[in-house]
Order: sequence, then structure tokens, then C-alpha cells
Amino acid sequence: MAAMSNRQVQATSTAEMEDLILNISMARGMDEIMAVVRHAARRLVGADGITFVLREDGLCHYADEDAISPLWKGQRFPIESCISGWAMLNREIAVIEDIYADSRIPHSAYRPTFVRSLVMVPVREDDPIGAIGAYWATQHAPSPESVDILRRIANSAAVGMTNVALINSLAAAQEEAVRAKEAIILAMASLAETRDNETGNHIRRTQHYMRALAEAARGHQAFEPELSESMVDLLYKCAPLHDIGKVGIPDNILLKPGKLDPDEFAIMKTHSELGMMAIANAQRHLGVSNCFFSLAQEIAHTHHERWDGSGYPRGLRGKNIPLAGRLMAIADVYDALVSERVYKSALPHDQAVSIMVADRGKHFDPELIDIFETIATVFQDIHRTFVDMPHGAGADAA
Ligand code: C2E
Ligand code: SIN
Ligand code: SIN
Ligand code: SIN
Ligand code: FE
Ligand code: FE
Repeated sequence: MAAMSNRQVQATSTAEMEDLILNISMARGMDEIMAVVRHAARRLVGADGITFVLREDGLCHYADEDAISPLWKGQRFPIESCISGWAMLNREIAVIEDIYADSRIPHSAYRPTFVRSLVMVPVREDDPIGAIGAYWATQHAPSPESVDILRRIANSAAVGMTNVALINSLAAAQEEAVRAKEAIILAMASLAETRDNETGNHIRRTQHYMRALAEAARGHQAFEPELSESMVDLLYKCAPLHDIGKVGIPDNILLKPGKLDPDEFAIMKTHSELGMMAIANAQRHLGVSNCFFSLAQEIAHTHHERWDGSGYPRGLRGKNIPLAGRLMAIADVYDALVSERVYKSALPHDQAVSIMVADRGKHFDPELIDIFETIATVFQDIHRTFVDMPHGAGADAA
């Protein structure tokens, strides 16, 4: 009878062990690993408490626990003064039947607790990065089987923790690559801008117009679903790239002081597609799909489409024009109107607003131009804040 139930217990534990090892090996974060250990280990060894201890420099951090009453969760102890530290420093399992008869134990820390017996197993035998403790309230000689189960749990935790560390450093490296690419693209954008603008302030202004307009549009039912907070932030980041395709436009056209003839304007118009392709190329080289690049492409591609379908490059009409492009059109034209360009002088704010409002439903999304009208003074303030300074001058020029 006893032998049979033993075998039964063993069969259950084997299945549970396999589950636990699988779950730990699939964990994507430390919290998950500790949760799996916490839930399974205590039952597998029939303990009254389990702790998960992380090594942090010279300290043992009691990071997680599951016990009949509180142990030391959240506390940190010097590695030399606790039994988890002893197990890590000595790379050895500690099996202690009576903690009050063992000099390695800081008795004062245990007096407030239920603990009488314990097993402490280092995680990663060759170079411990943590430890798992099992505790019993009544004096108890832990069986070799439970010590072995704890050792195996600790070994899978070691594998899991190594995975998590790898995943984290991969993610960090990937993030860094994305940031680097974004920085390069922004540098390219400012290069494009400085060719047809005296200063880089156009970039900063279009960013701020974009955010102001998108935030205002968020307050309207028609736009709210498409404009989450993170979307507004992404629009703000992508806006400077709208004219990056101008890098590919020859100087004699881009910098022509007068009106462009039809052939020249036809070349000028290719900047939308050039820009989209440049950003797509950068994204391809990076080898990741990333919402920054997709949105930046969309903005570069569609910022010269017009609500009535007379824009370029595709002649999209109405809501077929992506919202990002409809927003960008307003930010872009406002800035073009109130700024001096090689081909035109600056218009006063009020005149710029009337020109744009007159194009409601022709060039611009009618609902968005209404919103623009209500916050036009915000645009004016942005233009004043990031005013273009004359060459060499330090002070304000407006
Ligand atoms: P941009 O200077 O950034 O102008 C962006 C958009 O603002 C223009 O797109 C146009 O929709 C609007 N805009 C600019 N100036 C005026 C204006 O005086 N009146 C009105 N109603 N709207 C204005 P668009 O026309 O597709 O031009 C795209 C780009 O082509 C311009 O970007 C600029 O770099 C260049 N460009 C356009 N016309 C000329 C020109 O006559 N001479 C030169 N050198 N470049 C031009
Ligand atoms: C332990 O030794 O297991 C924890 C408590 C302490 O170090 O004081
Ligand atoms: C693309 O068309 O490839 C970019 C997104 C857009 O322009 O809608
Ligand atoms: C233009 O007149 O070419 C562009 C601006 C507009 O339609 O309002
Ligand atoms: Fe443009
Ligand atoms: Fe522009």
C-alpha cells in the first residue's frame, strides 16, 4: 500500500516537474520564472514556505515568496550573513533540520518566523545568481527526493534566467539600432530642410503644429479612435520627415528664386515618393517592422494629397488620404505660408489662416480645418517661438 502511493506521488511529481521545467524555459521575464517556482515548488516538496533569492552584488534580495506566513519578501541581507548567501558563496546546498542548532543561520532574523527546518539550493551551480529556499514549520529531515527536486527546479530557473537575460539584451540592442536609425534619418531630414530653409526651425515647428493639431483632433469623436496618446507622440516624431524626399531634388529646382515651370514642378512633386522610398529603404536595412518607419512613410507619401482628389502623387480623395497625411498637409502649408521661402515672401498669420480656410474641402479635410481654425493662435505661438533667425543674427527676428 505504502509503496503504491509512493509510486503515485512520484508519477504526479514527474508530470508536474515536466510542466514546471517547460514553463520556466518559456518564461520571458524574471517575474514569470519566480511565479512558476513559487506556485509549483512548495507543493512538489511539501514545504510550508518557498523563497526566491536574487544575488545583487554583495546582497541577497529576497525577491519573492510563498509561505504560510510572511518571511522576508522585499528585504536584502549582506551575502555573508544569510544562509542563501552561504549557499551561493559555497556553491553548495544547505540542508538544516534544526535552524537553531546551526551557526550559519542568523537566528534573530528567524525568530519572528515559523521556520524550523530548511533547504537552500543555489541557482546555477558553477556561478550562483540566486537561491531557492524551502522551509518547514515543524522540525523535519528533508528527504533526498525533495532536495533533488529543489536542485532540479533551481537548475531550470538558472536556464530560464539566462534566457531572460539574453532576451533583455537582445531587445536592448534592437532598440538601440532603431534609435540609431531614427537619429540618422532625422539628421538626413534636417539636411533636406537646411537646403531650402535658412534654419532647421521648420522641422521643430512642423513637429509642434502636428502635435497641437492631433491633440485637438483627439477631442473630437470622429478622430479620437485613431489618435491614441502614443499615436500623437509618434506623429510628433515622424512629422520632421515629411519632406525628406527633397534630398533628391536638384538645387536648381529646389532653390529656384522664382516660380517653377511645369517640368520643374513635375520633378519637385516626386519628393513625396522619393521620401517614402528612402524611409522604406532605411527600414529594410534595419530588418524590422517598426511603426515609426511605417508612419513616417505614410506622411512622406501622402502630405501633398488633397481632399478633393487634385493632389499628388496618387490623387487620393477624402478619407482615402491617411489621417496622418491630412494632418501633415495643414501643418506643412501653414508653415510654408507664414515663412519666407526662396520663391515667396512670408504672409501674416491672419492671411495664411484665411487662405487655408478658403481651401476647406478642396485642399484640406473640412473637419480638420475647422479644428485648425479654433486653435490657429496656438500655431501662431509656435511659429513665434521657433522663429527663423536671419543669417548670423542671434536675437529674434519676427
Ligand atoms: P513648401 O515650400 O514646404 O510648401 C508646401 C506647400 O505649401 C505647397 O505644396 C503648397 O501647397 C503650400 N504653399 C506654399 N506656398 C504657398 C502660397 O504662396 N500659396 C498657397 N496657397 N499655398 C502655398 P506644393 O505646392 O505641392 O509645393 C511643394 C514644394 O515644392 C514646396 O514645399 C516647395 O519646396 C516647392 N515649390 C512649390 N512652388 C515653388 C515655386 O514656385 N518655386 C520654388 N523654388 N519651389 C516651389
Ligand atoms: C535567510 O538567512 O535565509 C534569510 C534571512 C536572513 O538572512 O536574515
Ligand atoms: C505606402 O503607400 O507605401 C506608404 C503608406 C501610404 O502612403 O499610404
Ligand atoms: C496652392 O495654392 O498651390 C496650394 C495651397 C492651397 O491650395 O491652399
Ligand atoms: Fe512636401
Ligand atoms: Fe514642407
